[in-house]
Amino acid sequence: MPSKSRRDAEKKLQQLRQTLAGHNHRYYVLDDPQIPDAEYDRLFQELEQLEAEFPDLITADSPTQRVGANARREFAEVNHEVPMLSLGNAFAASDIEEFDRRVRNALDTEQPVEYFAEPKLDGLAVSLRYANGRLVQAATRGDGATGEDVTANVRTIKSVPLTLQGKNYPALLDVRGEVFMSKQGFNRMNAGLAEQGVKTFVNPRNAAAGSLRQLDPHITASRPLEICFHSFGRAEGGQLPDRQSELMTQLRDWGLRVAPETRRVKGAAGCLKYYQELGRKREQLKYEIDGVVYKVDRFDQQRVLGFVSRAPRWAIAHKFPAQEELTVLRAVEFQVGRTGALTPVARLEPVFVGGVTVSNATLHNMDEIERKDVHIGDTVYIRRAGDVIPEVVRVLPERRPKNAARIELPAACPVCGSHIVREPGEAVARCTGGLICAAQRKEALKHFASRRAMDIDGLGSVLVEQLVDDALLHTPADIYRLSDHKAALIRREGLGEKSVDKLLAAVAASKATTLPRFLFALGIRDVGETTAADLADYFGDLDALKQAALDYHKAMADGLAEKDLKALPLQQVGNVGHVIASKIADFFSEPHNTRIIDELLALGVQWQKTAGTAAGPKPLNGKIFVLTGSLNRMTRDEAKVHIQQRGGKVTGSVSKRTDYVVAGVDPGSKFDKAQQLGVAVLDEAAFLLLLELD
Ligand code: IVH
Repeated sequence: MPSKSRRDAEKKLQQLRQTLAGHNHRYYVLDDPQIPDAEYDRLFQELEQLEAEFPDLITADSPTQRVGANARREFAEVNHEVPMLSLGNAFAASDIEEFDRRVRNALDTEQPVEYFAEPKLDGLAVSLRYANGRLVQAATRGDGATGEDVTANVRTIKSVPLTLQGKNYPALLDVRGEVFMSKQGFNRMNAGLAEQGVKTFVNPRNAAAGSLRQLDPHITASRPLEICFHSFGRAEGGQLPDRQSELMTQLRDWGLRVAPETRRVKGAAGCLKYYQELGRKREQLKYEIDGVVYKVDRFDQQRVLGFVSRAPRWAIAHKFPAQEELTVLRAVEFQVGRTGALTPVARLEPVFVGGVTVSNATLHNMDEIERKDVHIGDTVYIRRAGDVIPEVVRVLPERRPKNAARIELPAACPVCGSHIVREPGEAVARCTGGLICAAQRKEALKHFASRRAMDIDGLGSVLVEQLVDDALLHTPADIYRLSDHKAALIRREGLGEKSVDKLLAAVAASKATTLPRFLFALGIRDVGETTAADLADYFGDLDALKQAALDYHKAMADGLAEKDLKALPLQQVGNVGHVIASKIADFFSEPHNTRIIDELLALGVQWQKTAGTAAGPKPLNGKIFVLTGSLNRMTRDEAKVHIQQRGGKVTGSVSKRTDYVVAGVDPGSKFDKAQQLGVAVLDEAAFLLLLELD
């Protein structure tokens, strides 16, 4: 049953559309919403329901009709009755002074000219036609004379009013502006595209252009496009203001969004001041700008000045240094950070970008290199925005030379020569040098001496840095050799004899420590205080832990499956899974690290040993095994691990002391020997039973 009479519905529809358009304007144009989103949604739904009841009362300017059209095959052409011109470019202050002189000459005045200064939005130009206040057409700039009809797409942009506000607008109005994407909108959209595995856009400008020129308006509607207006073309049947500054206020009153950062200025000096100010604000702006535009404010003066070729003589674009440039990637070097993380750095053909000459740019990590498919020799897009580190944004594959080379992760650390590891699934590759890598030394030493680690009173961050710079400290072991350098320490600025004595006493006192503290102090990746304590509890002493780490490392190198690695002693420790176990294994398998541990022990670092819970009852404790022949379920190495894990030992030859000979397929002479000596022989099934693996 229709809930309302037709006449009531008509009235209600009109009222809802007006209310919604008003809220839309406050939200998207003024950035100042009046009602909560939910309230807006409710009104929108009400409108939808009523329109469903009276479909013949739906109008093109209804907020429900923004995304109406279906995809088309191509865009129709639109002739711009007043051509869409471009602007002359200026880069230096002297260019602006020159421009101002030309303007004053043409106007024949000595007085400072009033200009209207605006940001130069980095998007794409469009011209929108409003007939009797209704949006009837939107076109791209094209070549300035002919553009493409993008009406259906522009209608989907929320800051575009489908009808103008107020009354005094011209019967026919062509307004011009810039369609763009905010930095935030761009980043979010790109993140979404990346998640879907779809190609991302290089910058907001390309994203805006790509999104507006979609043949299917539904796609455009899903993209965060925005608009700001800055000029007009044809205007008939109504009065326009006399100045650009007033025009902007008028446009805003008609519901057409304009950039907020505009201002009237006086003379070249005023222009340049505005340029400086906006340049400083550039990074904080919500959208990208590539410069500013100065326009002679008075329209009567604009008419006197007129045009040259395709640009007005009354306006000029003052560009900021470009934030993106093309250059050639010559080489890639790897830098080692404080935590050992390797960062690939692109060495570039020097290029002027973002106001400075750039010859290095970050490539972030190996995943990024793979994702962007960067090769040495490639022509690459470099971006430097504000003070951020320049980065390689993408490559131009069509310019790849034949001899372009793949970028390989080095096997050894460029600083210390230790192995580089990259855990599966991790983007970051790391140097395993830990304690000996100069790049990591300062951080490692600070951690080693810190209160929760070796707790060396007086050896804080600043002193560690100084002592490393003075070459008195290289590794943690050097801390315990500082007493040999007492004279040098006293000579150091800021360190009197008394404080040196105090420091050396604290160093000496720290030698008596605990195994958990020592393990934590070593700075093994992912081994925090809790894990260090768990490891100490389980193994009781360093030797047992080291052995477990080396066994684990070997098992990984042998390619043991994860479920078998899980059975190894290292993973029996609470909270130690494969990821942490492999880091512990890597650490102890690095000879540099074990050497420093040995030095520390030799220099007197010590702790109370305990039995460790791992030494508890084990099913095969003390049993001696000999393996012969091949097994089906596992290799001999794996069998050995299983036996050791349960407290057993594996030897090479059969003797009276042998408890079991495990005989697989094709056993050798050891089988005969076992029978001779009467040693128990287990076939594979019996062996698995013993291991409780059957
Ligand atoms: S005025 C006749 N104002 O820059 C002058 N243009 O190089 C018409 N642009 O295609 C343009 N911000 O799309 C003007 N505040 C601004 C602008 C601006 C960006 C673009 C515009 C035009 C290009 C000219």
